[in-house]
Amino acid sequence: MAEYICWFSKDTIIIKPPKKSPILLRMIVLVFAMVCGVFICSVCLKQISTHSKIKIEDIQVIERPFSDNPPTQMRIPIMHFPHPETFSRAECVHNPVRYFAILSMQRSGSGWFETLLNSHVNVSSNGEIFSVLDRRRNASSIIKTLDKLYNLDWFTSASKNECSAAVGFKWMLNQGLIENHEAVVEYFNARGVSALFLLRRNLLRRMVSVLSNSYDRHAKLLNGTHKSHVHSAEEAEALSKYKPTINSTLLVADLKKMEIMAARALEYFNSTRHIVLYYEDLVKNCTKLKDVQEFLGLPYMELTSRQVKIHKGPLSDHIENWEDVNKTLAGTEYENFLKADY
Ligand SMILES: *[C@@H]1O[C@H](CO)[C@@H](O)[C@H](O)[C@H]1NC(C)=O
Ligand SMILES: *[C@@H]1O[C@H](CO)[C@@H](O)[C@H](O)[C@H]1NC(C)=O
Ligand SMILES: *[C@@H]1O[C@H](CO)[C@@H](O)[C@H](O)[C@H]1NC(C)=O
Ligand SMILES: *[C@@H]1O[C@H](CO)[C@@H](O)[C@H](O)[C@H]1NC(C)=O
Ligand SMILES: *[C@@H]1O[C@H](CO)[C@@H](O)[C@H](O)[C@H]1NC(C)=O
Ligand SMILES: *[C@@H]1O[C@H](CO)[C@@H](O)[C@H](O)[C@H]1NC(C)=O
Ligand SMILES: *[C@@H]1O[C@H](CO)[C@@H](O)[C@H](O)[C@H]1NC(C)=O
Repeated sequence: MAEYICWFSKDTIIIKPPKKSPILLRMIVLVFAMVCGVFICSVCLKQISTHSKIKIEDIQVIERPFSDNPPTQMRIPIMHFPHPETFSRAECVHNPVRYFAILSMQRSGSGWFETLLNSHVNVSSNGEIFSVLDRRRNASSIIKTLDKLYNLDWFTSASKNECSAAVGFKWMLNQGLIENHEAVVEYFNARGVSALFLLRRNLLRRMVSVLSNSYDRHAKLLNGTHKSHVHSAEEAEALSKYKPTINSTLLVADLKKMEIMAARALEYFNSTRHIVLYYEDLVKNCTKLKDVQEFLGLPYMELTSRQVKIHKGPLSDHIENWEDVNKTLAGTEYENFLKADY
């Protein structure tokens, strides 16, 4: 109060208000301050809540299938310490094991991808175990098979046994996976199985590969043996000599069907820990394999495969009725499949 008075001239002292008024003024200021405080607090709370809402929306956007940046849930994979019934894990008994499954479609590069994974000293990817009908007849036979595999009691040429740090297999979407998706998703989430989706961007290329492979089943172009994968440029060339004819009436509908199947699988498995990989990206970008190893919690290694790509170069070289196909897809949503050169 003293200071306040010092600032003013004598005149102001004369017009000094009655003694009671400063208290009233202080009360008004106090009430005003309280109102302000309450208001500021409410604004703050609102901002905090909208902030967290935005965050949740962001996460949903990231996890939405078919975004350009493949959704990668980089949560740490669950570690397991299985006790196989058939052998002892010996010196590796204290090494954790991660469970995975490669979810793919025929002729999407999953064979090649699996050989890459199996070139890692600590990965056992046991092939297409559900190609055998009896193992996928119903949900309980599927779960029984999975239990055995993840307990390391499944033996294939790829099994690394005691020193496996990641164990899995490849599973085609049409091998009981879509039909039993509820049971499988539940199993994956309960047991901590990570899904590696391996899909193809160019579904027309996949179609050429499916038709050629199916033709070779009977034609056996390589000296009377049928091969789905090859290890030399000569064999690749011999197989790619056959040019399939594609039924253009059904082409767009068939491509749509493939697209829907992949989208549906991604939707069903969206609650699992998963990564979405595209064959074309893996071919072009070595860094993707690093992402895969990181996703599986593996020590990093260079991965190699002896497999050789069969259909190289432009698609027009590999389709008998190219003109027809080119005309059919021109102006459709699949037009870019004609141009992409991989
Ligand atoms: C599932 O299929 C197996 C044969 O693969 C059969 O033995 C079993 O009874 C079936 N279980 C159910 C619940 O249908
Ligand atoms: C990977 O395998 C090697 C050789 O079998 C073993 O020495 C090592 O401990 C394994 N690493 C992990 C993380 O399991
Ligand atoms: C297949 O035939 C080719 C010649 O057409 C020959 O060079 C190659 O050695 C044969 N491969 C096998 C496994 O017999
Ligand atoms: C294409 O498929 C349709 C429907 O199955 C069939 O009617 C037609 O004959 C086929 N066209 C050729 C060229 O095979
Ligand atoms: C997964 O997809 C289903 C069906 O579209 C949807 O209801 C659910 O919210 C999705 N879950 C997540 C975690 O995105
Ligand atoms: C290769 O993949 C990595 C990791 O997924 C990504 O960050 C990078 O941008 C890719 N590079 C090219 C040239 O696409
Ligand atoms: C495909 O058809 C378009 C016309 O629609 C033409 O310009 C283009 O050259 C054709 N592509 C090939 C590879 O034949």
